[in-house]
Amino acid sequence: MMSKKVRKAVFPAAGLGTRFLPATKVIPKEMLALVDKPILQYGVEEAIASGIEHIILVTGRGKGAMEDHFDLSYELDATLEKKGKRELLALSRGISSMARVSSVRQKEPLGLGHAVLCAKELVGDEPFAVILPDDVIDADPPCLKQMIDVFNEKGGSVLATQTVEGPAISAYGVLAGSQDQKNPRIYNCTGMVEKPKFEEAPSTQAIIGRYILTPRVFALLEHTQPGAVGEIQLTDGIKALLKEEKVFGYTFAGKRFDAGDKFGMLQATVEFALKRPEFGEKFRAYLKGLV
Ligand code: G1P
Repeated sequence: MMSKKVRKAVFPAAGLGTRFLPATKVIPKEMLALVDKPILQYGVEEAIASGIEHIILVTGRGKGAMEDHFDLSYELDATLEKKGKRELLALSRGISSMARVSSVRQKEPLGLGHAVLCAKELVGDEPFAVILPDDVIDADPPCLKQMIDVFNEKGGSVLATQTVEGPAISAYGVLAGSQDQKNPRIYNCTGMVEKPKFEEAPSTQAIIGRYILTPRVFALLEHTQPGAVGEIQLTDGIKALLKEEKVFGYTFAGKRFDAGDKFGMLQATVEFALKRPEFGEKFRAYLKGLV
């Protein structure tokens, strides 16, 4: 059984964000604000709250704002200090000292599996997490923490899943396997298919953007050929891993939003805004007045 601690989280963030044009023409989609915070920061905060010590961003051209966001902002901080805006200064400094952040470029958009492979050297020979920042998950304890607990107990890779009924399943990687006898949230995985046709989906268990993977997956991704939509798929790399090691699906407790999609972002905005103590009630009253 693998005993190493999960310390690193890889954030694939090299995509062009075409689903969110025109907002993403210049701004990385990971920097779009959900209420008042970039969606990337939600994922980073989730990782840190789950015990992750090192954030690895897989970036692309024109996406430097993501690294800047977690760096010191001298001009902003100096101005806030001079003006005596202590709370805002603490907010800005807090982001820069939040985590150790490294980055690596994915030079070509060859797929999610290839993006994860780009982090191979930075991860090294230890289990690691993958967070797809588009998938914002509201959960307590954090989704990744729940998964790390399952990984520590089971000693095999863990993929977050949720039930998706109907043709919408075709947008996801889908698990094959059976529910664990003892824990109905755990799925003993026997296979998986990336973006199956509805009629061919092996189950209703869709993979959501949180993974705990063993480092063996890197060697397998190196040999993974382009699959669905002509891209090197992470799902195909994990399918190869499944021939050598156990892999589990885990139906996390919590709610997931697809913040990389316009409608999903609207839903997340409404629900996260309603939870904000400073203006949640005011916003609720406003919404009630509209319908
Ligand atoms: C990716 C994965 C897919 C997973 C999905 C979750 O797809 O390839 O297996 O179900 O994320 O959000 P994408 O959304 O990049 O098409």
